[in-house]
Amino acid sequence: MKKIKLAIFDLDGVITSTTEEHFKAWTLLFIKHFGIRLDQNLEVYTKGVSRIESFKVLLKHSRVDLDDMKLIECLANEKNVIYKDLISEFDETKICPGVLDILNYLKQNNVKIALGSASKNAPYLIRNLKLEDYFDYIVDPTHKRSKPSPDIFLDAVYHFGYNPEEVIAFEDAEAGIKAIKNANIFAIGVGDEDLKDADIKLRSLKNLEIPILESIIRGN
Ligand code: BG6
Ligand code: MG
Repeated sequence: MKKIKLAIFDLDGVITSTTEEHFKAWTLLFIKHFGIRLDQNLEVYTKGVSRIESFKVLLKHSRVDLDDMKLIECLANEKNVIYKDLISEFDETKICPGVLDILNYLKQNNVKIALGSASKNAPYLIRNLKLEDYFDYIVDPTHKRSKPSPDIFLDAVYHFGYNPEEVIAFEDAEAGIKAIKNANIFAIGVGDEDLKDADIKLRSLKNLEIPILESIIRGN
């Protein structure tokens, strides 16, 4: 591996835990409009996947026929209003364990830091978590294909003009790990999912010891 110049982070489930809030917002929307209580097992299909794609997956699994794109967008916006309310009190206490140590290490070692999230709420959350100063670049997911397409990660790579071999990326979702691997980037999987395609898998970022990170960054 080459020396690493850029680290790309997913947001939801890596930097902060919002999975519960995303799914709760969908659950409330489905009860209100369709009288359906979503099965918790469906949550995994929405992880890392864009708002509209998540909605379509949930509609399909709930056997709700809805193909009016205007209505889909309108209801997805309503989910976002509920979601924004649920995360309105997120602040720096909601940063996942280990994240700050890693960000500080990367900054001190001149590794660029980017955010590669599918969430359109990412800039809002990064501001509320008081992490803005760490990020050299935040990918705008608008008009990009949803993960597992590599588009979001490649956007960050091309922004800096680097080669995917000079980049690492962190993800908690299977779709996200696939997106990283589709971009030919070294993938660090985080969390409880299996994430079998990840190059390294950790339960939590607090388990990523700095000497290990150091050897990855040096390309050893
Ligand atoms: C991802 C989440 O990070 O962002 C998904 O894992 C979510 O669950 C997606 O659907 C889009 O988020 P938002 O905030 O734009 O609705
Ligand atoms: Mg995620």
